Amino acid sequence: MRIKKIFLFLTLATIYFLKSSHENFSFIKHKVCVIGTGYVGLVLGAGLADFGHKVICVDIDEKKINGLKKGIIPIYEKNLDDVVLRNIHNQSLQFSTHLSQAVQLCDIIFIAVGTPTGKNGEADISAVIAVAKSIAKSMNNHKIICIKSTVPIGTGKMIHKLIELETQPKITFDMASNPEFLREGVAIHDFFNPNRIVIGAESEKALSIMQEIYAPLLKKNVPFVKTDIITAETIKYASNAFLAVKISYINEIAQLCEQTDANIIDVALGMGLDERIGSKFLKPGPGFGGSCFPKDTLELLKKGESTGVQLKIVQAAIEVNQQQGLRVVKKLERLVDSLQGKNIAILGLAFKANTDDVRESPALKVIELLLEKGAIIKAYDPIAMENMKKNISNIYYAQTMEDALINADAAIILTEWDEFKNIDLTLIKRSLKKPIIIDTRNIINPTTANKLGITLENIGNAKFK
Ligand code: UGA
Repeated sequence: MRIKKIFLFLTLATIYFLKSSHENFSFIKHKVCVIGTGYVGLVLGAGLADFGHKVICVDIDEKKINGLKKGIIPIYEKNLDDVVLRNIHNQSLQFSTHLSQAVQLCDIIFIAVGTPTGKNGEADISAVIAVAKSIAKSMNNHKIICIKSTVPIGTGKMIHKLIELETQPKITFDMASNPEFLREGVAIHDFFNPNRIVIGAESEKALSIMQEIYAPLLKKNVPFVKTDIITAETIKYASNAFLAVKISYINEIAQLCEQTDANIIDVALGMGLDERIGSKFLKPGPGFGGSCFPKDTLELLKKGESTGVQLKIVQAAIEVNQQQGLRVVKKLERLVDSLQGKNIAILGLAFKANTDDVRESPALKVIELLLEKGAIIKAYDPIAMENMKKNISNIYYAQTMEDALINADAAIILTEWDEFKNIDLTLIKRSLKKPIIIDTRNIINPTTANKLGITLENIGNAKFK
């Protein structure tokens, strides 16, 4: 009898606990449409589907959508295939080319199309505008329209007016801004474990629905920054530009270390342990690349110009970065005298490791300069060669690292792939005509290399312990 009572008590207590925790965390599933299936849209769509929402990802690229329907992922992004396949399977994630239909079926629309650099350095938002017009024409009931793409400060306001103007008959909607902070290569990890979620909204209703969208993260106590749209847009640019400044700053200090004989690795360590500075983004290298930092710093500079604010620090970060490729080539030139007719092995084409993305990759600049100086290039990258072929066709693409190295006059490491970190230095010694390496990612121990008779130059006179 006593045992029965205890059992009953425990059961009731469990039910009460589950009920009250459920009440604290009211999870409302939404029908979400994500327009644009690039790095941002695809990760967002798959992630939100994983949260339990019903998601339709839309793109005008029929080939891409047909592939995605079969689970073929168009980009190289760790673990993205698992999340996409899982959610296709449980029918939370669909793909479509029919924007209008998807918009009508959903209550929240994310715009996640590309905003590349335009002719004068400003971000080109023509795709965002085109999508906004299509949304306006498809409106059938109230929607939350959220801009996820990185758009120039003020775009949300402009898009609101545009949709208002183009929607006939008038249907109410709320705009929101929800900038993304995912890093390529670790985007899935970042999606589920963000440092913060920034939501810019123009109404309480939009704000509360956006919170419902990210409820599982709210539950995990991820900080939410709730603000207005223009401030959310500014947070995105200010964050990316700040990180770009940090990289250019350490690249400048690295130059100084090369002249003074200080060791950049210890300098970065000593600086980074100060919590006010922080250890991240203090790695010197061939310069920042990718689809974000170069584009966003330029756009921010333009925004400053058009509003009468000279953003000198951002400008300096861009200038230092633009010189970084030339500095790498000059390092090599000093070691080989002339580059004319020299065979140079390029190890790494992606703008950073763990991605196949070559947009604004330092490799583009370095290869262009080497070709101008008459060098012959043998390039190798574990993943990014197909993408680089679309940009540069007049170089030799090696099937293996060994193939790139054999009989080359020197090698330049441009991407910090594990394959290069674990490189067998005796292979380099055997393969190169003269064992010369420019290690722009500071991944090779110079002492070990020198012991083997390899001439190695890195960035900032890096010495390993
Ligand atoms: C960057 C931001 O880190 C993300 O938060 C943001 O969401 C994204 O842009 C975006 O706006 O969409 P990503 O471009 O994927 O992400 O790459 P990062 O890992 O930030 O690296 C950018 C560049 O800086 C790379 O070329 C990398 O090699 C370089 N870098 C980074 C350094 O040279 N040193 C460092 O210490 C860190």
